[in-house]
Amino acid sequence: MIPSMRLTIFIVIAPVFLFAQGNGSDLAALAQKTFGILPLQMASPENPITPEKAALGKILFYETRISADGTVSCSRCHPLGLYAADGLPMAIGNSCKINPRNAPTILNAAAQISAHWIGNRTSVEDQARQALIGPPSFGMPSYDSAMKVLKAIHGYEPLFKAAFPLDTQPIKEQNFALAVGAFERTLVTPGLFDAFVNGDPDALTPGQKKGLKTFVSEGCASCHSGVYFGGQSYKKFGVSAPYWTFTKSQSPDLGRFVVTGDENDKYVFKVPVLRNVAMTPPYFHDGSVNSLTDAVYIMAKAQLNRTLPGDELKNLMAFLNALTGAIPKQALEVPLLPAREEY
Ligand code: HEC
Ligand code: HEC
Repeated sequence: MIPSMRLTIFIVIAPVFLFAQGNGSDLAALAQKTFGILPLQMASPENPITPEKAALGKILFYETRISADGTVSCSRCHPLGLYAADGLPMAIGNSCKINPRNAPTILNAAAQISAHWIGNRTSVEDQARQALIGPPSFGMPSYDSAMKVLKAIHGYEPLFKAAFPLDTQPIKEQNFALAVGAFERTLVTPGLFDAFVNGDPDALTPGQKKGLKTFVSEGCASCHSGVYFGGQSYKKFGVSAPYWTFTKSQSPDLGRFVVTGDENDKYVFKVPVLRNVAMTPPYFHDGSVNSLTDAVYIMAKAQLNRTLPGDELKNLMAFLNALTGAIPKQALEVPLLPAREEY
């Protein structure tokens, strides 16, 4: 072939080829319109983040002395270095008590409509406070008993005072909740998807771009919506058939029905956040499925009554991997816990 012919073929073919691949900036614009832009923090007017509050919250996140058997902290079930999930089907609390559901990641979790799979906690602050007296969690007999422990640890008083300067008695469960919540609100993890949305067309591979398109066109995004890819609605698990026919779960969970008593809420769960999902097996509210590929296949079957062909499944998997992000550096540094005595 003579060189000029080759050039002509390239000039004619290239735009067609690029279009078929999906114009990067069009797809980025679609992604931005569909999901939005990831903010730096999950701000809340009820709990403004201050450095002092978030720093105290991070320390409290590692505090085991406020648990019934002295071994439980938030970090036990949400280890930050492991994407804040424990890898177990169901979490294990004080005195080896098994929790009724799987521990979700707490990264990118603070901007949801509620906390927990069935939405029985109103916010991350509400969740943090109630964890103290949750029987399979910290298992303390009362908030007072937990606060008594914190008051007896000398090093906490200045930290609570700095975080809540207007409070004369700052060590109380509401402030525990606000501090831990403020820390959680800083846990946002930008990844390759965000780089793509923010203007780097090469941040995603061609397979990931196809997966993104499939995620939107197949309707995954109608439930896993918003910039965290979930957390914005409650939906029935098992639209086409009971969910346990897919997951082989041993005992069905009534889901949000437990909270509302409404028949329509049977087997309804909060749509989970999919950021970092590739890093947080096992899957579903009961940790019944180990592989993300199986989980995605089941989702298409159970929620959309669709059997995904192998290449679509592969592209969706590639795309979900682009939702793995960077854990904030400051969150990965384990803090020094306050000493009991003044030395
Ligand atoms: C014994 C293990 C365990 C401990 C300790 C624990 N959690 Fe959890 N966490 C869980 C489980 C299990 C769930 C899901 C519960 C449910 O939905 O019924 C959960 C859910 C959450 C959620 C909701 C996430 C979402 O997407 O809905 C947040 C936030 C959270 N935990 C934060 C914390 C904080 C903060 C602490 C410390 C105060 C803590 N957890 C202590 C196991 C634990
Ligand atoms: C009709 C709403 C709906 C649609 C459509 C939907 N999902 Fe889901 N998804 C959910 C709900 C609800 C759950 C939680 C199920 C449970 O564990 O109880 C979930 C769970 C998941 C999980 C497991 C997350 C975890 O941390 O355990 C993955 C992965 C997932 N969905 C991916 C997808 C993909 C990919 C699609 C498109 C093929 C999709 N979903 C379509 C509602 C939906």
